[in-house]
Amino acid sequence: MTALLEVEDLRVAYGKIEAVKGISFTVDAGEVVTLIGTNGAGKTTTLRTLSGLLKPVGGQIKFAGRSLKKVPAHQIVSLGLAHSPEGRHIFPRMTIEDNLRLGAFLRSDKAGIEKDIQRAYDLFPILGERRKQAAGTLSGGEQQMLAMGRALMSQPKLLMLDEPSMGLSPIMMQKIMATIAELKAQGTTILLVEQNAQAALSLADHGHVMEIGKIVLSGTGQDLLHDESVRKAYLGED
Ligand SMILES: Nc1ncnc2c1ncn2[C@@H]1O[C@H](COP(=O)(O)OP(=O)(O)OP(=O)(O)O)[C@@H](O)[C@H]1O
Ligand SMILES: [Mg+2]
Repeated sequence: MTALLEVEDLRVAYGKIEAVKGISFTVDAGEVVTLIGTNGAGKTTTLRTLSGLLKPVGGQIKFAGRSLKKVPAHQIVSLGLAHSPEGRHIFPRMTIEDNLRLGAFLRSDKAGIEKDIQRAYDLFPILGERRKQAAGTLSGGEQQMLAMGRALMSQPKLLMLDEPSMGLSPIMMQKIMATIAELKAQGTTILLVEQNAQAALSLADHGHVMEIGKIVLSGTGQDLLHDESVRKAYLGED
């Protein structure tokens, strides 16, 4: 079986500064793969490049067997690659429901859209309770739920989440992680970028540790969770 996503020797630069220096990894259908690493390692840059928001200076990206090289960002969404960005980027003055509908902007199957809105409300009941309220009235954690719900509205083959636990209380973080586990159990393929290495590795099938633009260590989630260097650098042990 070929991988759903194949990234090979990917290089991305901001002007002269290379932020991603030749990374390779794959994501198989049904898997959760996580990229962990310190601030500035290139995780967000990698996701933004996969979404077509940044152009690589080298390497290959193949999604569902097709090269993404010449595919513009909006078409990448329609191929099934959805991105819940760092910092969420919801529209605060629009209602929660309208924010969700935006995630379905490429779809025309009305009944399917209604079903998926209901699915988002089942996954995150608070969003349903407050569907008519402005999204800006949601707490940070609830806004994260909305960003994830919105990304799911495009019926992605691959859901990319950039730091879903950022800035959340421990309880809210647990809730978000439990939802990611639930999505995985439903068969959603997920590429998860997280600073919270413990939480991410605990639910990931595979993980990659990034440092200044490179992947320095790869393994199963469990292998990395028990790796001594990972424990020292990312899990606060000495
Ligand atoms: N728009 C930009 N212009 C110039 N340099 C940038 C830009 N965005 C990011 N960088 C640089 O690229 C490198 C990688 O940044 P990136 O945001 O991908 O890291 P990250 O791994 O997501 O970090 P964090 O965990 O802090 O979110 C950093 O050195 C960063 O300063
Ligand atoms: Mg980032």
